[in-house]
Amino acid sequence: MPTYRPPHIAPSDITPESVYLSRREWMQGAAGFGAGLLLPQAFGADAALPTFYKSRYSTSEAPNSLREVSSYNNFYEFGTDKSDPAETAASLRTEPWTVDVAGEVGRPRKFDLASLMKLAALEERIYRLRCVEGWSMVIPWVGIPLAALLKQVEPNSRGKYVEFTTLLAPEQMPGQKQRTLDWPYVEGLRIDEAMHPLTILAVGLYGKPLPKQNGAPVRLVVPWKYGFKSIKSIVKIRLLEQQPTSSWTRANPGEYGFYSNVNPEVDHPRWSQATERRIGEFSKRKTLMFNGYGDEVASLYKGMDLRRFF
Ligand code: MTE
Repeated sequence: MPTYRPPHIAPSDITPESVYLSRREWMQGAAGFGAGLLLPQAFGADAALPTFYKSRYSTSEAPNSLREVSSYNNFYEFGTDKSDPAETAASLRTEPWTVDVAGEVGRPRKFDLASLMKLAALEERIYRLRCVEGWSMVIPWVGIPLAALLKQVEPNSRGKYVEFTTLLAPEQMPGQKQRTLDWPYVEGLRIDEAMHPLTILAVGLYGKPLPKQNGAPVRLVVPWKYGFKSIKSIVKIRLLEQQPTSSWTRANPGEYGFYSNVNPEVDHPRWSQATERRIGEFSKRKTLMFNGYGDEVASLYKGMDLRRFF
């Protein structure tokens, strides 16, 4: 991946989250009786997400603004500059869309978006995202636990890994005409990582359907791993017996391993991973082991040498 360059976002542009936050606080207050955690869709006329709930897994850190989250992106199918996806992803057709789930499962199935959103209550999950390039953001996703989908297809005992594949459509995704990666984009998780309650399929952010540049209509979010594991615009999920090879590992196995857990103690061969720059801030902060989600996920890697399994 190219080296880190600060985003071209003026401080004056960074305002929408204050609007969002005051609205959210208002809604939390308004939902004080009854379920208490219900968040209505209240972000404008074009909002199309069903009702969603606040998750107990959210960080209390302030989210980056919608503008930051949707204008500073990595989505190589739409170019390699951070500003490319916001400028060119309009050509992606997200309707109709199906996610084909098969492999080592008892009940293979194709999900359309509506059936996917019915598998579990939608939750807002405010997560930190730490990119391998050295920057980070806080993003208010809306999604469902991936486990809810996997349980539906009944993985069998040979299903030890999960492979995810992005849409292959060069006429919609001009970056796929360049040989930057071996298309389509592929990622993988171990089954216990995939079933972990922190792992979600996101269908929205900031209370609305995902912007195309963020991986519409459905993308993975694995908050304790480097951002590239969070594969966008997923059309295929396969349960496998063997560990799949992800696109970045295929492109450069010495630099990108299968696990890719955020780890300030293991440098990328070309740069340190000890610190990160939160988009919108000037000074750097220390990167936390497992991106700060160690209490929840460290046990998954007990006894593993994380320098070897990077
Ligand atoms: N998924 C696909 N299909 N193609 C990509 O280029 N980039 C990854 C990941 N998912 C990428 C992808 C990287 S490097 C990061 S950091 C995150 O998406 C960025 O997600 P965001 O743009 O929503 O912040």
